[in-house]
Amino acid sequence: MKFVGHHILSVSQFDRADVEQIFDVADHMRPYAMRKRITRVLEGAIVSNMFFEPSTRTRVSFGSAFNLLGGEVRETTEVKASALAKGESLYDTARVLSGYSDVIVMRHPEPGSVAEFAQASRVPVINGGDGSNEHPSQALLDLYTMRQELQAQDRSLDGLRIALIGDLKYGRAVHSLCKLLCLYDDISLHLVSPPELEIPAGIADDLTAAGHQIEVFHSLEPGIHEVDILYVTRTQEERFPSQDEANRYRGLFRLNQSIYTQHCEPNTVIMHPLPRDSRAQAQELDDDLNQNPNLAIFRQTDNGVLVRMALFALVLDVVDEVDNHAKPVTWFTAKRNEPLRP
Ligand code: NCD
Repeated sequence: MKFVGHHILSVSQFDRADVEQIFDVADHMRPYAMRKRITRVLEGAIVSNMFFEPSTRTRVSFGSAFNLLGGEVRETTEVKASALAKGESLYDTARVLSGYSDVIVMRHPEPGSVAEFAQASRVPVINGGDGSNEHPSQALLDLYTMRQELQAQDRSLDGLRIALIGDLKYGRAVHSLCKLLCLYDDISLHLVSPPELEIPAGIADDLTAAGHQIEVFHSLEPGIHEVDILYVTRTQEERFPSQDEANRYRGLFRLNQSIYTQHCEPNTVIMHPLPRDSRAQAQELDDDLNQNPNLAIFRQTDNGVLVRMALFALVLDVVDEVDNHAKPVTWFTAKRNEPLRP
């Protein structure tokens, strides 16, 4: 696809070359994200971060990414803090906000809402998650992280063996990730979920049509053998018709260090889009894995900034200008991979 001036609504827009291009630009952003250099390439530009659903990582990392490129961030969080609460349509909100900004990032609980909003927008819109439908930037950062973890083992994404674990029915990060995996060759997937929370049939069909091997599991332990990556997800409680129904699935699959040691290969990488549910009844990813070097969850969140910087740079057509606006960093910068002394 051409990126400049385009919306990013679904990973279905991308072919493999597009994804590789995003990853190359993301690689280029690393010194800026690591505060080795700063760039002011987007000085004067404004992003509107419109988050009508809870978000920590996606909202803050899109904002940080824009700031790191030198631009300004305007934010609205929650429907009740915006005019949508007064009955304003997505159409009107889009017409208005696109007059105030150069690009808009939007998250909304309704599947398809971000695409509807984008139709009325006068500037590019990036989907920050629309209900249970899609979460393109998350899937890109997940795949970027998988590529990085596999590179460390001299492997590539082709031939990947992955277990997707948890709420595969409502998890939009999983949905977008599966669509991206269809661009690669010879993937084998273990789909591990309660029977009622299996992946939507259309996505499973796409994976099969791409020539990938799928095996379905309804319990954790047999599903986590002989894979390179475990991609664990939270039960998407907010998407269930009732809290009672959501309660049935809480804590059903819990990965901890002892299960990992017993069932996984020594190099198996552990990923999660986060937030992990750390309440005692849930714990799909136990805190006792925090010291496991194969736990890649915070490498994922760090990579989110790189990938989101890349999306902004591509959509706003400044990729080739980034280094021309670079300056040295003048303040103390923490190493981030070492604890600070008191
Ligand atoms: C995910 C989401 O919002 O879909 N979170 C995120 O953006 N990192 C996953 C989740 O909420 O479980």
